[in-house]
Amino acid sequence: MKIAVFPVLATSLLVYISCVFAHEVDTYAFRMPNVWPHKDELYLCTPIRISPTTNYYMVGFVPKASMNTAHHMLIYGCSDPGSNGTVWDCGEMQSSEIDYIYPPASPCGSGSQVVYAWARDAPSLQLPKGVGFHVGRDSPIKYLVLQVHYMARFPRNVTDKSGVLLKYTSKRMPRQAGVILLGTGGYIFPNHVEHMETACTILEDKVIHPFAFRTHTHSLGKVVSGYVVRRSDHGDEWKLLGKKDPQLPQMFYPVVDKTPVRKGDVLAARCTMNNTHDYPVKIGPTNNDEMCNFYLMYYVENDTPLNRKYCFTNGPPYYYWENAPEGFNVIPDGEASTL
Ligand SMILES: *[C@@H]1O[C@H](CO)[C@@H](O)[C@H](O)[C@H]1NC(C)=O
Ligand SMILES: *[C@@H]1O[C@H](CO)[C@@H](O)[C@H](O)[C@H]1NC(C)=O
Ligand SMILES: *[C@@H]1O[C@H](CO)[C@@H](O)[C@H](O)[C@H]1NC(C)=O
Repeated sequence: MKIAVFPVLATSLLVYISCVFAHEVDTYAFRMPNVWPHKDELYLCTPIRISPTTNYYMVGFVPKASMNTAHHMLIYGCSDPGSNGTVWDCGEMQSSEIDYIYPPASPCGSGSQVVYAWARDAPSLQLPKGVGFHVGRDSPIKYLVLQVHYMARFPRNVTDKSGVLLKYTSKRMPRQAGVILLGTGGYIFPNHVEHMETACTILEDKVIHPFAFRTHTHSLGKVVSGYVVRRSDHGDEWKLLGKKDPQLPQMFYPVVDKTPVRKGDVLAARCTMNNTHDYPVKIGPTNNDEMCNFYLMYYVENDTPLNRKYCFTNGPPYYYWENAPEGFNVIPDGEASTL
């Protein structure tokens, strides 16, 4: 670390950080331990425990997946893993049959948050300079869990070690990354286009800087949009954070509006769903159910991320922006549902 040699450059935070990166970043190959995906549409999870005596900051992710086999990969930060095993079946689509090869469990046992997502054919997300996910000693994230979604069953003699190279440092990063997940419960009536909506007022006295978003639905999702709503006596101002067709690769994409979000602002999301079936579809974990999720990734400057990790409502037919306790006087009705 030769920072003192460049006193002029050292006044620039960005230069300082890239200098830190150049000298202090290590790589950990976080990969599946040669698993055998023995059936179609299998989700497998494998954990690592972070040293409880050291603070680390994850500053980059390099996917190492075989395009042909892995449909998507997620990394969860957890307080406790979903299982004590080395590999388990962690599909959100749980089936009732007993699996003797990979027993079923959630990715996390407690304190779950998504910190990284990769999907086929999508470019990888770069964290902004100086931003890191704090894990280990003083962080609630004590474990990382890698989830890989395998599309098709493998032949008997073929195994897989898809994964992610984690770039990390023990140098304290001035900007900590966090994720808040917006979503709903609820029902979509048969042959019906439905809006699944959520909104939450930020109550913590923190300034959050949004930089990426990710959408998630199953097959009925058409558009997922996320907003920050700034309240004032003159009316509500809805600023688009991001909008996506959830049938496209479900990764983190850069946000549209990077303006900081403060106490009193509202985070809001809508999923526009088209139920083309003759039966109602509910929010739930299986392939026959739906989901409505908008993940917002942000950083805080010299602070810890929001304690609040989730913003969920009961969804339709119980909750709509229209009857939200915030009493919105404007709703971007058309814009929120068109790409
Ligand atoms: C893992 O092991 C610990 C210690 O034996 C136990 O307390 C915990 O419940 C186990 N977790 C799971 C998910 O089985
Ligand atoms: C797996 O077995 C098949 C049939 O025996 C063989 O053709 C193939 O080369 C084997 N693949 C590997 C990776 O060993
Ligand atoms: C919903 O699906 C029906 C049947 O495929 C289609 O005719 C209609 O245009 C769709 N509506 C929207 C808003 O996607």
